[in-house]
This record gives sequence, C-alpha cells and structure tokens, in this order.
Amino acid sequence: DRNMHQKLVEQNVNGIRMRALIAGSGPPLLLVHGFPLSHKMWLPQIEYFQSRHTVIAPDLRGFGESDISSGIVTMEQHARDLNSLLKELNIEDPVVFCGLSMGGYIAWEFWKHFADQLHALILCDTRADADSEEGVNNRLKMADLVLRHGPEAISTAMIPNLISESSQQKQPHISENLIAMIEAADSEGIAASQKGMAARSDYSNQIENIRIPTLFIVGSDDRLTPPEIMLRMSSQVPGSKYFEVGKVGHMAPMEAPEAVNREIDHFLTSSNF
Ligand code: MLT
Repeated sequence: DRNMHQKLVEQNVNGIRMRALIAGSGPPLLLVHGFPLSHKMWLPQIEYFQSRHTVIAPDLRGFGESDISSGIVTMEQHARDLNSLLKELNIEDPVVFCGLSMGGYIAWEFWKHFADQLHALILCDTRADADSEEGVNNRLKMADLVLRHGPEAISTAMIPNLISESSQQKQPHISENLIAMIEAADSEGIAASQKGMAARSDYSNQIENIRIPTLFIVGSDDRLTPPEIMLRMSSQVPGSKYFEVGKVGHMAPMEAPEAVNREIDHFLTSSNF
C-alpha cells in the first residue's frame, strides 16, 4: 500500500504549528500550494513522485491543518516558514521547489533568501510581477468579504478562474475538491495571505538572474496567469524550459496530472536530480 509511505507530520515553525504530508525517500521535492488551497491539491504529484523522491507537501500558515496567524502574512514569511520546516525535518540537501501561483510568489522569496537550499525551480501558473493598483484593491475587497462572510462567499465564484471550461464539464470532482479545500480554509488565514499577496515584491526584473534549472508549466486556458506571461518569464530565465498543457486552466497539475507529472519527471531527470 503506497499510502503507508505517506505521513502527516507536525512541526513547530516560527511560532506556529505547521503540518505537512511527507512521502517516499530520495532527493527532496517541495510542493507549495496555491491560494486559498492546501497540500491536497498535489495528491496526484505526491502519488507519482514518492517512489523516487522525498516529497514534502506542507499546508502553508493559515491554510489546511496548519495554524493561522491573523493580520498580514507576507510571501517572505511563507518562504521563511518553509525554510524552517525543512530544517526541522532535517532535510539538508537543496530542494526542488515546485510552487503553483501563490506558491510561485513564495518561490521568488525562497530563491532570494535561501538560494543555498535550492537545487531547481518548477513554477506552475504564476507570475513574477506585482499587482496593479486595481489588483491590490480587489484583493483587499476579497479579504474583507471573507472576514465578514467566510470562505463560502468566494468558493464557488472562484471556480471559473481556477479551471478550464473543459475541466468543469468533464472532471466535476475537481471543482468539488477545490470548493472543499477553499471552504475548509480559515477566513483569517485567507485574508492574511491575500493581504500578503497584495504587498508582494516585483520580481520581473530579477528573474533574469536565476542560474539554476527552471521549468515553467502553464495551462493553455489559464485566465489568471496566461501562457503569454509564463512564456515571457521563460524567455527571461537563461536555459529554462517551458511547457504548456492544452485544454486546462490555472490548476494544471490537478487538471492534467499525467501530462504535468511526465514533464516534471523529464525535467528532474535532465537536471540531474
Ligand atoms: C493562486 O495561488 O492561485 C494565486 O494566488 C492567484 C492570485 O494571484 O490571487
């Protein structure tokens, strides 16, 4: 039973209790979820990669089973939590950091602050630039809405931005899983990271300095971080790889796990991991 190799661990990290699913053994692969989700978005990747890797899939501060801190949680705070978590877990080898969307915003901070701990980057459906003024205002409105009315006020409405039409029609369990993850999230946790994203730094002129193996993955129908944005980033990062998955949206790893896993597998093999 493959699940026997998976365990949910709990560590004290920077003043909170953080939980993570750990599976398998081998070179460490860190999977960092998007907003406002949890490690559960990565289940198809955990199942696939646990045969050759130590897969670490945490719930970020304020999400899933991890403790919440209210106010604002910056992308740098999330990166510091992840670095501390790896230390607590005695993971000494540099990791492959795979982040989706907000997980990608956190990846830039991890690269900036903990480059020694990083072997390679996999960036799924994300961007390097900061928000426009309108973007910031929308985030603050959403944070306010969730604090007043709970995650149910945003869950169903988010689906068309998260997955493609095709996935909505052909894979209804994905919408159900996403809605369940969003509604299981805590309002304070959602608002705190939403404010953190609104305040995030602009990395668009820094990513050209990345000198480690990097893979960009995007769904062809991603409305939030569309292919042209990901392709432009890929052209900025020397030697990086770019992979576009047809007919899927922002949640490419959930919507097209076989294609995404195969591509990550090629990338890991070709970057000597
Ligand atoms: C995500 O994790 O899906 C992103 O946070 C989307 C966003 O920028 O709000």
